[in-house]
Amino acid sequence: MKKILLAIMMVLPALALASGGAHLDKADYDLHNKESLQRGARIFVNYCLSCHSAAYQRYNRMGEDLGLTVAQVKSNLMFAAEKVGEPMTVALKADDAKNMFGTKVPDLSVVARARGADWLYTYLRTFYIDESRPFGVNNTTFKDVGMPHVLWELEGMKKLVNAEEVHEHGAAPEFEMVTKGKMTPVEYDSAMRDLTGFLVYMGEPAKLIRYELGVYVLLFLGLLFVVSYAMKKEFWKDVH
Ligand code: HEC
Repeated sequence: MKKILLAIMMVLPALALASGGAHLDKADYDLHNKESLQRGARIFVNYCLSCHSAAYQRYNRMGEDLGLTVAQVKSNLMFAAEKVGEPMTVALKADDAKNMFGTKVPDLSVVARARGADWLYTYLRTFYIDESRPFGVNNTTFKDVGMPHVLWELEGMKKLVNAEEVHEHGAAPEFEMVTKGKMTPVEYDSAMRDLTGFLVYMGEPAKLIRYELGVYVLLFLGLLFVVSYAMKKEFWKDVH
């Protein structure tokens, strides 16, 4: 009986996720690609930092991790702060945000850990025209979201063509372009991959360092194997 209960308890969360979740696309971001992370950081400070903070992230730390000099960080990424040691906060006050958007604007430092990369990548690409919403847009990944489509200039505006299947059966959304953006759909997807990668990096800056460490650990293990194999041969030489 206990075993059955345990099995049910283990399966339930998976079922809940499966039934409640919208369709998600795979975010093939690349944390090893510094240029991609830099592009993501640029989109972030230009289009997101005006409303969202990333209070756990400091400009100088980000610059070091992404392979940028202090001067590059200052001229390319710092529009909302004075000193590179400052955290990435916003000027928008919580009360103003509540008045403007009817909800508070969450800090995005660790959003990738809370939501997952695939969710973010999908969310950023599923805004569609919905006149019934305050900002004229809705989102199939985050229904009735309080955020405007801030990247509409880049992506353009699209409408949802299979609303019923999406809302009733959780099908993958299909869109039709209504007005063109500055980017092609392929370019926009690629930019969102960069941005997602940057958000993942922000959620866990130590990941980049861990990757490097991992390589050294593997090299060390490889060397250890060679040495121990040679020693084994040496020790057993006279036994046979
Ligand atoms: C004009 C202000 C504004 C800008 C600019 C903005 N957002 Fe938002 N965002 C919001 C608001 C408001 C919410 C809360 C929505 C809600 O809870 O309904 C939100 C929610 C989110 C969420 C969901 C967080 C969660 O887990 O609930 C994510 C992710 C997000 N924004 C990412 C971004 C990214 C990435 C950018 C830059 C491309 C961006 N936002 C730019 C206002 C903004």
